Amino acid sequence: MAREQWGSRIGVIMAVAGSAIGLGNFLRFPGQVAQHGGGAFMIPYFISLLLLGLPLIWIEWTIGRFGGIFGHSTAPGMFHSMWEKNRFIKYFGVIGIFGPIVISLYYIYIESWLLAYSFFALAGSYEACTTSELMLSFLKGYQGLEQNQFFSSLWPAYTFFLITFALNGLVLYFGVQRGIERVCKYGVPLLLILAVILVVRVFLLGAPDPAQPENSVLGGLGFMWNPDWSALTRGKVWLAAAGQVFFTLSCGIGVILTYASYLGKNDDVALSGLTAASANEFAEVVLGGSLVIPAAFAFLGASAVTVVAQSGVFNLGFVTMPLVLQKIAHGNFFGFIWFFLLFIAGVTSSISLAQPAIAFLEDEFNLARRQAVLRLMAVIFFFSQPAIFFLGRGVVDEMDFWGGSFFLVVFATVETILFGWVFGMDRAWTELHRGSDIIIPRFYRWIIKYVTPLFLLLILGVWLFQDWLPVLFCEGVSEENLPYIIGTRLMLFSLLGSLALMVRQSWKRREIKLLENGGTNDD
Ligand code: ALA
Repeated sequence: MAREQWGSRIGVIMAVAGSAIGLGNFLRFPGQVAQHGGGAFMIPYFISLLLLGLPLIWIEWTIGRFGGIFGHSTAPGMFHSMWEKNRFIKYFGVIGIFGPIVISLYYIYIESWLLAYSFFALAGSYEACTTSELMLSFLKGYQGLEQNQFFSSLWPAYTFFLITFALNGLVLYFGVQRGIERVCKYGVPLLLILAVILVVRVFLLGAPDPAQPENSVLGGLGFMWNPDWSALTRGKVWLAAAGQVFFTLSCGIGVILTYASYLGKNDDVALSGLTAASANEFAEVVLGGSLVIPAAFAFLGASAVTVVAQSGVFNLGFVTMPLVLQKIAHGNFFGFIWFFLLFIAGVTSSISLAQPAIAFLEDEFNLARRQAVLRLMAVIFFFSQPAIFFLGRGVVDEMDFWGGSFFLVVFATVETILFGWVFGMDRAWTELHRGSDIIIPRFYRWIIKYVTPLFLLLILGVWLFQDWLPVLFCEGVSEENLPYIIGTRLMLFSLLGSLALMVRQSWKRREIKLLENGGTNDD
């Protein structure tokens, strides 16, 4: 079966940028900045970007293109190609398929809220919600967490989920070039334009209340950009900053590996990787950083920013922002822009999360693309039901912890060590520069080999030391939520186990075939 390929260079850059630019840029980032004291966050953030994010981007683009040469689009085959002698390394690669599936189990559902809220904004459905309490009640009613004057059942949310789910399936059904590439080529510029329109509108807010000039857009920007050097001594801020860099760049997930595997053998990876990462950082720091915090500062005041931060990611986007936007002229229109841009950002990310598993079924089980899409979508549909029906039980947080945090760091650590130490830095550097349009400064050799893995091991070590036992024993989980959390864990680990068995089965089949043909293993 012929492997899929990107249609153009701009197409692959847009697809990777589309995967990276997501809810993390516009919701998670401002939330983290606010939670960790504004300027205090930005220093560790930029240092993590340079020492962790950028090296990982180059590592993943290079490993991905290398794996593609051997006909592998996912981490098990790629890791095996890099370290043929080791029989176990392919099982670490399973994380690169498992992680993105787990994230998509809740990501598509949250994406569907954004589609729903785009409609609600245009229809003026939440117009009557003039206080945070009412807006929160609207959100809880929609999520099925309470029955109230706004919603009496989960059906509206479920209907929007079905529409969003079908939309994702449709894009994937058309394949890499005609589906993913086409959507991202139009989607990414569109969402950036919408974000710029919204930023301009927010900047025109100034200080709405002349009696309180400090409550202004400028005040918000000052909060975000005045550096606080003392932050460098706080471990927690470092962990949060590194986590945000991972999440936003979509690295350590497995997605970039798969996207890069569709490149040609001599296509540039160094400049393309840097360009996609820069587009993401522009969307995060410049656009994402200019929306929620300045708007919240201008309308709700400095003290409210801490409240915003404590209220969590969902409340920030679904309660604070619509409330603020409602207070300006044409609020419904701007509310629509806010939710719709987030929806597009969500779609271009969620299709990328499904692609590794589809590619795995195609490469290792010889399934036709459409068969692979149908099977994966059936799995995602089935396993996402708990996220929908047991949202209030902490199921989404549990999925996010394993799929979107823990395994991400583990996976990144494995691939960094594999790249710099097993594959070897000389070979890795040559591979990274094959067909390259830029020459990466040589000190990055040293960073990739020593600093990035040490940084990752430190993060893992601190986490294991501080949190491993409390997480294992579900400390802090209420008694009524415990069965749901344990159920989710069992579900996730059975998924991980099944994927590992599939890898085993696929390699066994290949070995039998090779023996039958009397050939050698050239993977
Ligand atoms: N990188 C994606 C985001 O920021 C997952 O949402």
